[in-house]
Amino acid sequence: RPGAQRWVPEGATLPQLREAVQECRGCELWQDTTQAVMGDGLPQARLVLLGEQPGDQEDRQGKPFVGPAGRLLVQALDEAGIDRADTYRTNVVKHFRFRGRGKQRIHQTPNQVHVTACAPWLAAEFTQLQPVGVVVLGGTAGKLVFGSAFRVGEMRGSLTDWPERFPVANAPQWVLPTTHPSAVLRAEDQREAAYSGLVADLRIAAEALR
Ligand code: URA
Ligand code: SF4
Repeated sequence: RPGAQRWVPEGATLPQLREAVQECRGCELWQDTTQAVMGDGLPQARLVLLGEQPGDQEDRQGKPFVGPAGRLLVQALDEAGIDRADTYRTNVVKHFRFRGRGKQRIHQTPNQVHVTACAPWLAAEFTQLQPVGVVVLGGTAGKLVFGSAFRVGEMRGSLTDWPERFPVANAPQWVLPTTHPSAVLRAEDQREAAYSGLVADLRIAAEALR
């Protein structure tokens, strides 16, 4: 059976999951990477931030959101009044998918196959968390949580219920989709507006946490 399930130890703590994920062969993405990148943050965090997959820096450093998109996200969280220490940051896919171009590694969006294969790791993380809310960053995470019809533009900025289609232990009280920080970085001349939009959405999450 394809997928990560057989590598996920039952009842494992977050540190144990972080170790176990290094052995995962649930899809082919592990092959050309430095390491798997498990979520980071405290189990008592009230907010889960759910991204797509590690990027180049995350792959090298072994932690989520430590590259350019992560720096932008931290700044936006600050501005929205969300304490980073109250967040658990993770991704729907734990290995970096890229194509080589000379010495560069260019991000490639993971396929549905990779997202589905990797989902047992996220489900295992949720057994160790009790978040009040989840912020879904961008389309890849959105499609896993809400289904393939998910469109960021249609759902961003509204608090909704955690959908039944992706059952997790300790389902959060609400979920808020928003744009991915990488999309803000790619927005070029619209970057200011895109960034303000992200901060505005995060303020809604901040309010819901109060
Ligand atoms: N983009 C993501 O979705 N996750 C990371 O960890 C870094 C960049
Ligand atoms: Fe396993 Fe996920 Fe890595 Fe694929 S991307 S090998 S399913 S941890």
